[in-house]
Amino acid sequence: MGFHEDDLDVAEDAHLRSLTALEAEGDERAVEAALRPRSLDEVVGQTRVRDQLGLVLEAARRRGRAPDHVLLSGPPGLGKTTLAMIIAHEMNAPLRLTSGPAITHAGDLAAILSGLNEGDVLFVDEIHRMSRPAEEMLYMAMEDFRVDVVIGKGPGATAIPLEIPPFTLVGATTRAGLLPGPLRDRFGFTAHLEFYDPADLDRIVHRSAGLLDVNLTQEGSAEIASRSRGTPRIANRLLRRVRDYAQVRADGVVTHPVAHAALDLYEVDQLGLDRLDRAVIDALCRRFGGGPVGVSTLAVAVGEERETVEEVAEPFLVRVGFLARTPRGRIATAAAWEHLGLAPPPVPADPAAASDPTLFEE
Ligand SMILES: Nc1ncnc2c1ncn2[C@@H]1O[C@H](COP(=O)(O)OP(=O)(O)OP(=O)(O)O)[C@@H](O)[C@H]1O
Ligand SMILES: [Mg+2]
Repeated sequence: MGFHEDDLDVAEDAHLRSLTALEAEGDERAVEAALRPRSLDEVVGQTRVRDQLGLVLEAARRRGRAPDHVLLSGPPGLGKTTLAMIIAHEMNAPLRLTSGPAITHAGDLAAILSGLNEGDVLFVDEIHRMSRPAEEMLYMAMEDFRVDVVIGKGPGATAIPLEIPPFTLVGATTRAGLLPGPLRDRFGFTAHLEFYDPADLDRIVHRSAGLLDVNLTQEGSAEIASRSRGTPRIANRLLRRVRDYAQVRADGVVTHPVAHAALDLYEVDQLGLDRLDRAVIDALCRRFGGGPVGVSTLAVAVGEERETVEEVAEPFLVRVGFLARTPRGRIATAAAWEHLGLAPPPVPADPAAASDPTLFEE
């Protein structure tokens, strides 16, 4: 079957479009693939997830069984696909790749499942975007390693049970909250990937620089790490852009001044906010007086899909403390106003909201 990694990566991080647009080369994916850690030992940071997953895999190896199904959740570029590949690699098992949007009918899934061999790792990216009937078929396959294939239509339709060899499902999602409970519950292990701290990103930049043969100083690396938005994929991309700059405008060495100047040129600010991040807080403060405003309205204001604002921009804005998600909409914090160089409004945008104790609940 024609599952290919490229299919998965097509939907990759929309917020990087601004960066990638600056990129002339077409080997972006190849470079990214080359920088992926291949084993758990090579994974930088995410220590808790690494330890927990290591244990799950080791126990399965000792029992000689396929490991429990694994769900990986977290914002784009934090290592979900990387970990899925590592799971297969560590289990010495073939990895089969597909994605939620590619499975539009239950039949698509039945075809994939019936082609699995014992111990295979099936990776379903964007699993929250699978169709409902396929989802229901997946419940059964995960739990009983069996599916019912329906042949025919109407009263004459018959369900033919089909045995599936024990396999490991690895699901990835940027939106764990969108997964229906029954599906979430069938994963034996769920890993929530968190944004990386600058020290981990610094190690990633060093590692990648070694692989890409980029000459960089301690301070140069730290500058890239601190502006990488907590995201390894961005750290790797910024490293390559800074390297370009170093080669064209300097002597090839990534020093602090070189990194600083290059990142300014690429419009990555001191905190790592990119154009979309800034557009979101800018619209929130300047156009909506700091909110609360609905996410759909906010998305229209910045000319993006609602999903992109929710899955790509917001997690980081929440993490840096610029934006809060409230039941009545998004609000900007005082720090966000400050970051834009604006004075926060003298009274809270909505005084009633400020005293509402439920305001900060998710
Ligand atoms: N823990 C890590 N250590 C080192 N490099 C990492 C780590 N996690 C991710 N990377 C790097 O970041 C890149 C992006 O990671 P990956 O493709 O796994 O993200 P993802 O979570 O699947 O993103 P998306 O949601 O967009 O599919 C990889 O190419 C890899 O080089
Ligand atoms: Mg991925």
